[in-house]
Amino acid sequence: MKEEILALLRGRDEFVSGQAICEQLGVSRTAVWKCVNQLKKEGYEIESVTRKGYRLLRSPDLLLEEEIRSWLPAGLPAGQLCCFPEIDSTNEEAKRRALAGAPDDSVYIADIQTRGKGRRGRHWISPGGQDLFYTILKKPEIPLNRISMITLVTALSVAEAVEKHAGEFCQIKWPNDLVIHGKKICGILTEMGAEMDQLDYVVIGIGINVNRVEFDPEIADHASSILKESGRRICRARLVSDAIAAFEKNYRQFAAVKDMTPFLKEYNDRLINVNREVRIIKDGKELVRRALGINERGELLVEDEKGRRECIISGEVSVRGIYGYV
Ligand code: BTN
Repeated sequence: MKEEILALLRGRDEFVSGQAICEQLGVSRTAVWKCVNQLKKEGYEIESVTRKGYRLLRSPDLLLEEEIRSWLPAGLPAGQLCCFPEIDSTNEEAKRRALAGAPDDSVYIADIQTRGKGRRGRHWISPGGQDLFYTILKKPEIPLNRISMITLVTALSVAEAVEKHAGEFCQIKWPNDLVIHGKKICGILTEMGAEMDQLDYVVIGIGINVNRVEFDPEIADHASSILKESGRRICRARLVSDAIAAFEKNYRQFAAVKDMTPFLKEYNDRLINVNREVRIIKDGKELVRRALGINERGELLVEDEKGRRECIISGEVSVRGIYGYV
């Protein structure tokens, strides 16, 4: 009931009477009063005035289930939504849940990760109170060789949500880093569970540097946060709700055709690598090519100095700019 009360109070300057809340939710005044008190204890500033009702003055930037649900469209996500103050890794939790039978379309969010994982076995630094770490669990019925496209669809969805809050153009470094002003503000790690050739589940882990301002010296030259790049302090619950909603919308489109056709234009418009030289590192060898854009399978189309073209498949290679990160 807490999220329903929050949804009623939100976005209004005027008071909402206790009576109106009782009628809308079909509960007693005492029940409303108890819920409001609980919300206050959780850090919500709610003004209560006799004969006027309740008014929400400020929400804390907490990753609580009721707060996130109050921003999400009804019915999303279709599966579980679980928030943890601290966990080893949301990807690991999603995998444990998948094995225990969790439903398709579940989302696991943590404030702190003690063993946050990045791509290529790297550690993903995950301090509390500032950033976003979450994982979407999907059980898609698509061939294994199309799974990497889900990561691209996720990147696009997160970019849309980030841009809405940051007010800055959010670009994508192929296949799935999000970049503002040339600096990485988000990374995505997709893992899957399959037996023989049969896909069981996919977990898509998203780490967004939201309000952090301090970065370790070894990443500070290419990593940043939305706050640093836009000057805006972002409400994490709103951002994650918008990113989940954008993913659900885009995923529906993707699932209908099982390729990147509906997203080619938007993805390529956001692609920071377009018309730039990229270093492609594959099996320890390095190639320099000019990137042209992605195709409908999500592969990166590149060209050598003689105009010969080839498609690069994500997962097999690491792509860098020739002078640095992009
Ligand atoms: C990258 O290296 O760019 C990918 C980073 C992915 C980090 C996210 S944070 C949420 C999820 N849980 C993890 O342990 N990793 C991913």
